[in-house]
Formats: sequence, structure tokens, C-alpha cells
Amino acid sequence: MQSISCISKLLETAEFSLNIYFHVEVPVPTPKKDELLLKLEATSLNPLDWKIQKGVMRPFAPRKFPHIPGTDVAGEVVEVGPGVKSFKAGDKVVAFLTIAGGSGLAEFAVCKEKLTVARPAEVSAAEAAGLPIAGVTAYQVLTQSAGIKLDGSGRQVNILITAASGGVGHYAVQLAKLGNTHVTATCGARNIELVKSLGADEVLDYKTPEGAALKSPSGRKYDFAIHCAIGGIPWSTFEPNLSEKGKVFDLSPNASSMATFALKKITFSKKQLMPVFANVKSENLDHLVKLVKEGKLKTVIDSKHSLSKAEDAWAKSIDGHATGKIIVEPF
Ligand SMILES: NC(=O)c1ccc[n+]([C@@H]2O[C@H](COP(=O)([O-])OP(=O)(O)OC[C@H]3O[C@@H](n4cnc5c(N)ncnc54)[C@H](OP(=O)(O)O)[C@@H]3O)[C@@H](O)[C@H]2O)c1
Repeated sequence: MQSISCISKLLETAEFSLNIYFHVEVPVPTPKKDELLLKLEATSLNPLDWKIQKGVMRPFAPRKFPHIPGTDVAGEVVEVGPGVKSFKAGDKVVAFLTIAGGSGLAEFAVCKEKLTVARPAEVSAAEAAGLPIAGVTAYQVLTQSAGIKLDGSGRQVNILITAASGGVGHYAVQLAKLGNTHVTATCGARNIELVKSLGADEVLDYKTPEGAALKSPSGRKYDFAIHCAIGGIPWSTFEPNLSEKGKVFDLSPNASSMATFALKKITFSKKQLMPVFANVKSENLDHLVKLVKEGKLKTVIDSKHSLSKAEDAWAKSIDGHATGKIIVEPF
């Protein structure tokens, strides 16, 4: 048997502000074909976890209740299922569990071999667990959506990163600076020095008039804006700050931003707003783990919580003021 933290099906219809959450004991799962059983060492939370609790992913996920939340995990392989070729018991790994399945807030979890990568000794479990959703999203939006080359080649581009102190934003700043970029970042006053230390060229306090207007202190116009802040910032705020063909990549699209996206598309606007939906891939995760090993990327850890107090981590994530990643450890 193992301890888990879970949310019940009742929550599908409950008053979500109650944040009902409980701990139970369930059997340790058995790995099936192409799966691994992990003894977990760290799990990181993402806003997606509590958005699932709020029913955002219905009717697609989760499919089974009670649902054990948590998709981003690091741990040690204890058993491999039939067909697993790349890992054996004792290997240290980092893995992405599926959004529908979750299961990361537990002592043990089963992961798919194709969504698992090796974790070298230089990369701690907590640092690695931060990477799957937040790190891969930052990586994909920069390299695929914006076309930034992380070897520093290519023309210099001006990038705005909102909520640069958050889980996605703090990785995005560091990865963007591996490319040929000038980065303007926004965050709260308490995190300005941290965000500069991650490499941002200029940082705006989002609670000041200049910060709220997203105005570059050096007068730059942004070629790309990576919009990580959870609360919506209207198109009318981004638009005057964009270069002629500037694009906003919206990580938290809502009805209004989807309407803007459609309008800009059908009117062939040079300036565009694009919703972004990351797809965690092991090759991207592996690349990020290597960058952490080489000291080119770090995971800023907001706080660590024990599994028995996972509800504190949950509340902190919902609060929306994490600096970097919130980690849950099963001890
Ligand atoms: N589409 C996708 O594929 C995808 C993937 C990953 C994440 N996301 C979404 O992206 C969003 C960000 O995720 P996350 O993990 O980075 O969140 P997070 O870690 O919870 O973000 C918290 C940070 O945001 C800062 N912040 C909040 N509002 C801000 C504003 N208006 N301007 C500047 N900073 C602000 C907070 O600073 P203060 O404490 O100073 O307020 C805090 O440091 C979430 O909505 C998430 O669901 C989408």
C-alpha cells in the first residue's frame, strides 16, 4: 500500500472554491507493457493541476476518480513492465505522467517509457521535477513558436516575457538568453533582482504604470511576447508595444484572446496573437535535463512540501504567487 493525495469525483459538481482534498492509502500500481514503476522523490505542481480540479479539462480529463493529481515527477525505477528497453531498476529518472492520468502526488507512480528520461546525478530530483510542463512549454514556445535558436545564432530579436518569476516564465528567461535575444521581463517588485540574475536585460514591475503598460524601458518594440501571466492582459495593451510583425504567444488563452486570434487571422493582420498548447516530448525534456547538468539552466524552487501536507502546496499554487516551482516530496 502507498499514501496518495487525491481529489474526488464529487469535485466535478462541488463548489470548487472549497478545494476539497484528501489523503488515502491505495495499492502500489503495477507497470504494464512499456511502463515503469517509480518510487517518487519529487513532484512539481503546475496551474494545470488545480485547473483540472476546477473542471477546465472536462470532458476529456480526468477519466477516473478519485483522481491523484500531479504530472511532473522525478524518482527511481523500482520495476519495469514488459517491453521496456531503456531503463532498469535503480535508474534515476524524470517523467511526465499523462494529463488524464496524473498520479504524481503519491509515493509510487507508473510512467510511460516514452515520456521518461534519465536523470544524471548532478541534477537533483526537485530540479528535474520542475521541468516537464513548465520547462518544456518554455522550450517549445521559444524554439517552435518563435523560432529562436538556442545556440545563439540567428538575428537578434526583442522578447517580452510576462510573469517571468513564475514556473514557465523563469525557464523562458533563461532559455531565451541562450539565443540571440534582448529580453524584457515583467514580475512583482520582490522578484526583480532574481529575474535579472536569470538573465533578463530589463525588468518591469507589473504593478507600476509602466509595467502594466508593458513598455520597454529602452524603447524596444517586441518581436515576440511570451505571455505567461495567468490573468488576462488585453490585446490593446500588447499591440502598441509590438514590432511591425510582432506576435503574442498566449499560454492561458480565454474566450477573448481566442476571438482576437481569429480576428487577426482572418484580417491577415501582421501583428498576431496565437494560443499555445505545449506537448511534452521526451527529447525536449532530455535537452532541458542536459542544460541543467551543464549549469546553463536552473530550476528556481519556490518551496518544498511533504506529501502529507500536499494541500499546502496546492493552496500555494492556486494563490498564483509562486517564485519558480512548488515541489512536493514524499517524506
Ligand atoms: N498552454 C500551455 O501549454 C501551458 C503550459 C504551461 C503553463 N500554462 C499556463 O501558463 C500560466 C503560467 O503558468 P506558471 O506555471 O508559470 O504559473 P505560476 O508559476 O503559478 O505563476 C506565478 C507567478 O506569476 C506572477 N504573476 C502573476 N500575475 C502577473 C502579472 N500580471 N504580471 C507579471 N507577473 C505576474 C506572480 O508574481 P507575483 O507573486 O509577484 O504576483 C508569480 O511569480 C498558467 O495559466 C498555466 O496554466 C500553459
